[in-house]
Amino acid sequence: MKNKKEQINNSEPSMAVDIGGLILKNPLMTASGTFGYGKEYAPYIDINRLGALIVKGLSLEARKGNPPPRIMETPCGMLNAIGMENVGVRAFIDEKLPFLRSFDVAVIANIFGETINEYKKIAAILSTVEGIHGLEINISCPNVKRGGIAFGAHPDTAYEVTGAVKSFTDLPVIVKLTPNVGDIAEIAESVEAAGADAISLINTLTGMSVDIEQRAPHLKNITGGLSGPAIKPIALRMVWEVVNRVSIPVIGVGGIIDANDALEFLIVGARAVQIGTANFINPRATLDILEGIDNYLKRHHMKDINDLIGTLKDGR
Ligand SMILES: Cc1cc2nc3c(=O)[nH]c(=O)nc-3n(C[C@H](O)[C@H](O)[C@H](O)COP(=O)(O)O)c2cc1C
Repeated sequence: MKNKKEQINNSEPSMAVDIGGLILKNPLMTASGTFGYGKEYAPYIDINRLGALIVKGLSLEARKGNPPPRIMETPCGMLNAIGMENVGVRAFIDEKLPFLRSFDVAVIANIFGETINEYKKIAAILSTVEGIHGLEINISCPNVKRGGIAFGAHPDTAYEVTGAVKSFTDLPVIVKLTPNVGDIAEIAESVEAAGADAISLINTLTGMSVDIEQRAPHLKNITGGLSGPAIKPIALRMVWEVVNRVSIPVIGVGGIIDANDALEFLIVGARAVQIGTANFINPRATLDILEGIDNYLKRHHMKDINDLIGTLKDGR
């Protein structure tokens, strides 16, 4: 039989985090749009082990998205201009949600509208069905002409959408911010004041790429959203700025490829992390990162992930 000291050393660190009242078994989330509706990844990972699964952004009606080509690889990331292709909220509930209900995982619906009224309607519909544990409001998509970033780029409109959605749901509301602004912390303060339960950041940075032989943009949409390793230092800096200005939980997203990347975000103060582009490179990325964080906590003799979050030391 093991003595008490050995038992403590061998016990698994607690990974549970509280995201605005939503208790997750661990801080690993899938970033919207990079994990489909879950089914696509079920052959590769045990979905029950994720902290939360955030589905592809949903709009009121189905959307075809932008014409191809709409994906382009760059030296350290990818450009996409999918344009919010999705099945629409009702088809999601009928055709995709039953599969997700079979797992013991928090399901967060990422929602997108062209008008504030549409955001309200989608929130109201999703709040009446079983199996949705939270909403993530996308006010940060750069690849559509109406909606998305149009709301996220100004503190007043960000406030208005957040308040509107909050009044139509009892679910925890996460507001997803865009980096394509001058002062992201100002927008964060505004959505906190409107009642947001948590904030996630960042969505993609607007970029472009040119085919020099054709002398034409690679993407039909001309510009697209840049994601992947190239944006990690920017995302990290923005998370750091925002955690210092709001008291609601912040979720870090942007270029997280391995456990070391995720640890940087947690140390800076992110309460959870979302894994996006990394899923396309390694479908097991989320769980590999979870295992890497677990190893780090053990190596540093930490029994609870909350003892690590926000422990960045000032200066050198
Ligand atoms: C192909 C693709 C589709 C995306 N679709 C959505 C979406 O529907 N809603 C949303 O809020 N963000 C969407 N995003 C943004 C990601 O969720 C994430 O914020 C961004 O890619 C940065 O993280 P990463 O560098 O880990 O990929 C999409 C990103 C990619 C690459």
